[in-house]
This record gives sequence, structure tokens and C-alpha cells, in this order.
Amino acid sequence: MAILFASTRDEHIRTWVPALRQALGPREVVVAPDIPDRRAITHAVVWKPGRDTLANLPNLRAVFSLGAGVDDLLAGELVPNHIPLVRMVDPELTRGMVEYVLLHVLYLYRQVPQYRSAQAGAKWRPLAQPRACEQTVGFLGLGELGLAAARAVAKLGFGVVGFTRTPRQTNGIACLSGADKWPRFLASCDILVCLLPKTPTTLGLLDATALAMLPHGANLISASRGGIVVEPDLLAALASGQLGHAVLDVFEREPLPEDSPLWLHPNITVTPHIAAVTYPATAIESVLENLRRDRAGKPLRHVVDRARGY
Ligand code: GLV
Repeated sequence: MAILFASTRDEHIRTWVPALRQALGPREVVVAPDIPDRRAITHAVVWKPGRDTLANLPNLRAVFSLGAGVDDLLAGELVPNHIPLVRMVDPELTRGMVEYVLLHVLYLYRQVPQYRSAQAGAKWRPLAQPRACEQTVGFLGLGELGLAAARAVAKLGFGVVGFTRTPRQTNGIACLSGADKWPRFLASCDILVCLLPKTPTTLGLLDATALAMLPHGANLISASRGGIVVEPDLLAALASGQLGHAVLDVFEREPLPEDSPLWLHPNITVTPHIAAVTYPATAIESVLENLRRDRAGKPLRHVVDRARGY
């Protein structure tokens, strides 16, 4: 029985492999691409593995993603269809997303971009400041990360509303559901936070039509996956003033190409896909816990529903 570790990031190999070896024993952890005995592999821990890394592993029982989002693994068909795929759920990763969302909700609400540009022109220009309770922050994506972020924003005194396609129990967060409520949801958002997974249904969801339904001058935070916000439509909405400012951590193409107009746009804040990272120190426990469960014949937790795509 061995665990295969496969990642294209050197930093993962440096941190995860010693941690897994310490927890499981040195011979139990095999690092791709060197797989001396493919039959020995029962589980794999992966981040953007190579195309055939997970093929021809006859005793593979489950694959654990190092990322919360599994769109690349599904779109590339990198995990054989009959093998359960587990997404990363880790309290520190959730905390990272909560921090990122709180930071940028406050940044937009307290008009930091406007004060930065006034400072650049040495302009002393106090702006009217609404109260938090007069502002609504809307959340798209109320999973592990979205719900935690929505609750943290609500604690600051903002109005918070979520949107889900089908009705859901969201304990404490007001939620609109169903296609007929979509325009009403968007029209209520002073700040829209997109934490949706990337699936065939969410791809291109925030296009010109959706952005036009936001209140004039609304702000956007996009921190789950690129491709959900349609970048040319976003630029057009910023140009017309329909959108005030966009904080973007994820992009249609990553790394964001040097010549992208998003980099230097005065009303866009770019961060390089760092909103919520997986820390081996804590995330390893989520992998080990599932490994123990599987070996004890118990059901795995956080298995991806491939039909839904997350
Ligand atoms: C990061 O993007 C993740 O999917 O965890």
C-alpha cells in the first residue's frame, strides 16, 4: 500500500512529501513521476498532475486534491471516472479566504481605491461614507468558503445576501434562489463576491447581462476561478461606470499575461491567485483523516459530485 504524491510545484514536493513521509512512513510515499510499482498505489494526493499520472494504477482507491477547486482535474479528465475525487477542505484554507474577503470588502467599502488615486494627485478629498448596515454584500457560492466568508462579513454589520440555484439551508445568511430571483439578487449587491466553483454552468456567468443588473457603480470581488467573470465584459462595465472597482484574484488565463489590460487598469486590483492557499501543516490532517476512514471502510468526506462539478 502506498500513497502517490504528484504535483508540478516544487514547493509542494518540499513541504508535503516530508510531512506525508513523517506521518505514514518513508516507504509509503511515492513521488511522481517515479513510480516503481504502479500496483502498490492505493491513494494519490495531487495538484495539477501530469496527463497520465493517474492512469494505469490498478489498485487506486481515491484521489485527494490539494486544492479546494477541482475544475482542472475534471476538465482534463485526469482522474479516472470510477475513482472518488476528494476536494480539499481545511480550516486554514477557509480562514485564508475569509481574510481575503474581509480585507477587500472593507477596502472597497471604505473607498481605499478612491483615496489612493486622490493621494496620487495630492488631493485632500473626503468622500461621503455610508454605514455598513446600509450596504449589501452579495455572495455567489455558498459552499465551505463562501458561507464562512458571508458569515464573517455579516458580523461586521453589513447586509449579506446569498444566491443559490436551488433552495438551500444557509443558517443565518439570507438567501435568494432560482432563476427568477437572479435579477433581484444582483440588483441588491453593493459589493458582489464571487466564490463559485468553475463548472460548465458557472463559466461566463458574470457577463455583460449580469453585470448590467448590478446597481450602478457596484463593486466586485472575484476569488474562486477565472472564466466565471467575462473579462472583456468586465472592462466594458468599468469603462461605463456600471462597475466601480473590481478586485480580481483569478483570471481567464493564469499567470495573467503581462500585456493584459487588467494589470494597469485604475479601477482593478489584481492579486496573483493567492486568496486562499493550502497549508500542509493543517491540510495534511484532512488527507490523513480520509485515508484512515477509507482504510477503516468508512465513507470518504468531501467527495466531489462529478455531475455538479464540485
Ligand atoms: C485554490 O485555488 C484552490 O483550489 O484551493
